[in-house]
Amino acid sequence: MGPSASRRVVLTAVALVGTLSATGADPVVAHNLLAPQSDSGREIETLWWIMLILSTVIFAVVLALLLTALLRSRGADVPASPGVARRFVLWGGVVVPAAVLLGLFVLTLRALPEEAPASSGDGELELRIVGRQWFWDLEYRGADSVRVRTANEIHIPAGRTVRVRARSGDVLHSLWIPQLNRKFDLFPGRTTTLTLRADEPGVYGGECAEFCGAQHARMGVIVVADEPAEFDRWLAANARPAAVPDTPQEKRGEQVFLGSSCVYCHRVAGTNATGMVGPDLTHLASRRSLGSALIPNRKGYLAGWILDPQHIKPGNKMPGTDLSGPELQQLLAYLESLR
Ligand code: CUA
Repeated sequence: MGPSASRRVVLTAVALVGTLSATGADPVVAHNLLAPQSDSGREIETLWWIMLILSTVIFAVVLALLLTALLRSRGADVPASPGVARRFVLWGGVVVPAAVLLGLFVLTLRALPEEAPASSGDGELELRIVGRQWFWDLEYRGADSVRVRTANEIHIPAGRTVRVRARSGDVLHSLWIPQLNRKFDLFPGRTTTLTLRADEPGVYGGECAEFCGAQHARMGVIVVADEPAEFDRWLAANARPAAVPDTPQEKRGEQVFLGSSCVYCHRVAGTNATGMVGPDLTHLASRRSLGSALIPNRKGYLAGWILDPQHIKPGNKMPGTDLSGPELQQLLAYLESLR
């Protein structure tokens, strides 16, 4: 192999590794039920292990009995003993399964966290989650009438318990963050009240766990557990209205945005865009992902999403746009300034 050929191989390998690490780590966050980060998560993990071990033992016993029966009856006419057979069916088919199922039922009930207690009402932080086809609409309400609306990226203070009120805006959804809690079933017209807590700062992945339409599998969520002081900074920053455009490019981009149909569905606090149908864009540029943890929040992906969202997530409510090249660049500059 000549020097140029080997150089090509090395470059290809580097590009491949780069591509793999870029697509693997960003923005989808792996989640692992067996690495719980809260008491609720640990109870569910224990239940999972009990179920796995119990079912493994039962499976092994059934296989052993089956094997014994096969070997013993081979070629021989084993006489049936009605008394033994009846007792065997009674114990193996009724008593033991009933005891096992009842035991698991009780253990499962114990592992289910209760609904969160009623709010004390003294400005305690509350997170409201609305599941929509196909993204998570988030709103924080805290002391001093703090209100923050965002989407798809839940921030919580590590080590603190956050009250969550969740419902659906359309069909059934289920918010599942395996390391932090059980699934939150979301119903239209009914509120599910639970808590969310992560012992340690970190980024935790989650997803929708109830079939909700064509893009159910692409309804991910990212939970960022910040150090409490960092969380307070995040909340204060996100409670502010959108940044005022700075450069001429950003200013023109704001005009493109406000003059387009974007404003009917999206909200940018502090502007005339007050749509509540789609994700809030007030601090869009501060988020890690687009399309509900589907693609990284980077300029190229954002451009692709704006031009042809139906290609990336078919069936979602956002239509494509036919902006000119310069208009697209201006719009991108504006959206990227919304930190
Ligand atoms: Cu939302 Cu599945």
